[in-house]
Amino acid sequence: MYYTIEAGHRAAGLLHNPFNSLIAPRPIGWVSTVDTQGRPNLAPFSYFNGVSADPPMVMFAPNEKDEVGTPKDSFRNVVETREFVINIVPWRLRNEMNLTSTVLGHGQSEFELAGLTPVPSHLVKPPRVGESPAALECKVWEIIALPPGRGARRYHVVLGEVVAVHISDDCIRDGKVDTLKLSPMARLGGFEYMSVDHVEIIPRPPGGGT
Ligand SMILES: Cc1cc2nc3c(=O)[nH]c(=O)nc-3n(C[C@H](O)[C@H](O)[C@H](O)COP(=O)(O)O)c2cc1C
Repeated sequence: MYYTIEAGHRAAGLLHNPFNSLIAPRPIGWVSTVDTQGRPNLAPFSYFNGVSADPPMVMFAPNEKDEVGTPKDSFRNVVETREFVINIVPWRLRNEMNLTSTVLGHGQSEFELAGLTPVPSHLVKPPRVGESPAALECKVWEIIALPPGRGARRYHVVLGEVVAVHISDDCIRDGKVDTLKLSPMARLGGFEYMSVDHVEIIPRPPGGGT
């Protein structure tokens, strides 16, 4: 038997909408931004991904803070300053990452709250997380407002072009990224997370596309 659920409906027998649990694992974009006064902000977003390799582009999708449409600080900052950094979250920083989802007043720094080091970026104003093994410096390309859903909090998609990449040499082996060393954490449904503890190489079939 399958549950079949039309958008906007609930299924008898399921406690939650399964959507988030089915789009899993999701990478976590740990987004650093600055406000117009240069004050740093840091927050995790699991509606995050790369969307193209050439040019390298990423997206993350913040929803609103409340029912009256107050923007989250990350969103307000990218609208006002058009720059952000995606920091990769290694499994060892899972608790720090979680802590940076705390709602603080605008201008208050989650770097400080979580004991993380803001390190100046190469081409953009937002600092990167010094403890992260890798970071992507981004400039906003476009911000798209998604249609309203049934809840009151709307989402936007922030699309950014990656203008610089940082990767710790600890995570490089034979000239390639060692994913086990990078140890990126991912989000599953609800409050479930996972780490990467197994990597397998599956070459393309003959005639496989790139
Ligand atoms: C693992 C994780 C993933 C999250 N993903 C999202 C997301 O994709 N979109 C979103 O709006 N909020 C997401 N949140 C919640 C934000 O991190 C949270 O609202 C945070 O306070 C926003 O901070 P800001 O106001 O400083 O931008 C996530 C939280 C956690 C812990």
